[in-house]
Amino acid sequence: PAGADFVVVANRLPVDKVVADDGTVTWRRSPGGLVTALEPILRQRTGAWVGWSGIADSDDNPDIEGIDIHAVPLSSQEIAEYYEGFSNATLWPLYHDVIVKPEYHREWWNTYVEVNRRFAEATCKAAAHGALVWVQDYQLQLVPKMLRMLRPDLRIGFFLHIPFPPIELFLQNPWRTEIVEGLLGADLIGFHLPGGAQNFLYLARRLAGQATSKGTVGVRSRFGVVQVGFRTVRVGAFPISIDSGELDAKARSKAVRARAAEIRKELGNPRTVMLGVDRLDYTKGIDVRLIALSELFAEKRLDPHETAMVQLATPSRERVDSYIQMRAGIEQLVGNINGNFAEVGQPVVQYLHRPVPRDELIAFFVAADVMLVTPLRDGMNLVAKEYVACRNDLGGALVLSEFTGAAAELKSAYQANPYDLDGVKDAIEAAATQTDQEGRRRMRALRRQVLTHDVDKWARSFLGTLAEDPSTAPSGG
Ligand code: G6P
Repeated sequence: PAGADFVVVANRLPVDKVVADDGTVTWRRSPGGLVTALEPILRQRTGAWVGWSGIADSDDNPDIEGIDIHAVPLSSQEIAEYYEGFSNATLWPLYHDVIVKPEYHREWWNTYVEVNRRFAEATCKAAAHGALVWVQDYQLQLVPKMLRMLRPDLRIGFFLHIPFPPIELFLQNPWRTEIVEGLLGADLIGFHLPGGAQNFLYLARRLAGQATSKGTVGVRSRFGVVQVGFRTVRVGAFPISIDSGELDAKARSKAVRARAAEIRKELGNPRTVMLGVDRLDYTKGIDVRLIALSELFAEKRLDPHETAMVQLATPSRERVDSYIQMRAGIEQLVGNINGNFAEVGQPVVQYLHRPVPRDELIAFFVAADVMLVTPLRDGMNLVAKEYVACRNDLGGALVLSEFTGAAAELKSAYQANPYDLDGVKDAIEAAATQTDQEGRRRMRALRRQVLTHDVDKWARSFLGTLAEDPSTAPSGG
């Protein structure tokens, strides 16, 4: 078979397989920022997508027009060790400032290596001679090197969708050298922020330099470029984004506006509607915003009878211990606030633990006066950008954690340090009580950024750099 000229390799397929109790199979959009960003790219280019369907022992390929889907089956044990284990109980917390303690288990690592090999092999089958292959995210950091050894004809890019941690934290990982060498198999390695690229360059020099003494030929790095033997690997910052134009258009539609008005009515027409939209993850700081709100009510700086807070939480990684604990904590906080400040028939916090359909989500963005995005650490946070793209009415206010990648671009948001509770409270209060004029000024500035830096620009910038002559440093995103 000829194979595809453009191949996306990601842990997940763009859709998740859902099997109902009666055995009927449906496919639902996969959660998270990676799929949100790549879905529009996928619609524009034809090619192949290599990924996992989200459930055990399934090699079903969903039908997606124009895309050649290659499902990589995972057994329950591989899900436990590669996905829940090494990816989400080792790497995820390690790369997010060790908010919870990363666990290091040799069996998990071995399975991670094994599954990465399987993804590399599936990619070989999917890719035509000389194809462009784009490997995604922390679950597949060994794939670039494995792929290069199997298929030197390919042009390989890698993009990390989560933060790349400070060196002192990265060095905890017992398999740090293997991971750096795995990534160096790519021709171009992309991060959201220049800081992440810098951290990686330093490590490449230090760790892959150690490999030199074990026999690999000279590794020399300077900003933007690592020399690995005769190969040049480029390293740069490419801040990801969303399909801003599409969201902007959807948010203007009659149906969405009508639904937004209806949502406000269903909430009892409060003066201020506040909104949180996240995967239920400890990195997202959902507890931070709930505690801040609770204190603002207690101090009478905000009136609970005039405020409705809606927290939409997509279920995520539900069998991982730290997620089970965090969920219990959040649900206790929600109960606590309602216990203290709600009236019968008039809750202050409304919390849904389920995926919400895209169009309904857009209506919530349009309905919300204050959007609360308070992660303790986040690679980018596309929800913040989605909210902005939906506010062509120039209404609404964005409260944004400084510790998101998005904070580097969204300077006109009400920014706060999520570890500084008083700062978060001040930001929420300022956002809730802003004048129309101030709100419009800020939203106009935010929209200028989001509408001119969309996901298409991101992809073109990355893929353009990947296709360039490697002897020059990348221009960056
Ligand atoms: C983040 C990660 C993605 C991941 C998504 C959803 O956006 O960067 O790689 O797919 O979360 O998490 P899940 O574990 O459900 O795939």
